[in-house]
Amino acid sequence: MENTEQSPASLLYEGKTLKHADWVTTKILNPFVWRCPNQSIEKLYKERISTNHLEVGVGTGFWLKYTLESGSRLALLDASQEALDHAGAALERHRPEKYLADVSKPLRETLDSGDSFESLALTCLFHLIPGNLELKAAKILDNLLPYVSADGSVFGATILGADIRRPLLAVPVMNYGYKKEMLWNKNDTLGDIMEVLSARFRVFNVEVQGCVVLFWGKGLKEGYSRSLSQ
Ligand SMILES: C[S@@+](CC[C@H](N)C(=O)[O-])C[C@H]1O[C@@H](n2cnc3c(N)ncnc32)[C@H](O)[C@@H]1O
Repeated sequence: MENTEQSPASLLYEGKTLKHADWVTTKILNPFVWRCPNQSIEKLYKERISTNHLEVGVGTGFWLKYTLESGSRLALLDASQEALDHAGAALERHRPEKYLADVSKPLRETLDSGDSFESLALTCLFHLIPGNLELKAAKILDNLLPYVSADGSVFGATILGADIRRPLLAVPVMNYGYKKEMLWNKNDTLGDIMEVLSARFRVFNVEVQGCVVLFWGKGLKEGYSRSLSQ
């Protein structure tokens, strides 16, 4: 169940930070800094989430509280035990399975080889991971896609840092994040995420709100579906 030493990004979601994370994200960062309305993220979840869902990079589990149907199967995967415990408690009514793992590494020893989820969310995760977006998103998806059903949906959001007009307040906040090595999206572009999605999904969509790209892909292309790749 465990393939992680704590990564710097996962350490962001510990202790006191977790207590205030929802407020800071939904009242300040999303509406005024990144300029991505909370309603857009909620809508993405409502449209894409299934009753057999894997959430990766759980934070506080905020969006799931409002969008996951009762009786659903829910699996939470995160590199921070504190985030897993916090989100697990907030979502207790769904009796979540919890997996402690670094999603940049293979998940063979974390998830059951027979597992198959109908939906997978990766929201506000890629920009916390060092490296070029096309490479890091590809690596993370390729670790996860063996656990998504051939017709399943993958969705999420990430903050872009390049080839995009950044909202006024986003510029100093991003620069601070780069200096403190908390944010790793300096060269992340819309083209990067489109490349990754188009290579793996039969249908995909991207929508830019402020400096955030909301994305989804559905239906795995040949070679990415478990039945074909195993
Ligand atoms: C910004 S939070 C996102 C929370 C939630 N998805 C949301 O949008 O409200 C990022 C989460 O990703 C986790 N995380 C960061 N790096 C990770 C990694 N390499 N593997 C797994 N989880 C990671 C952090 O511990 C944290 O819980």
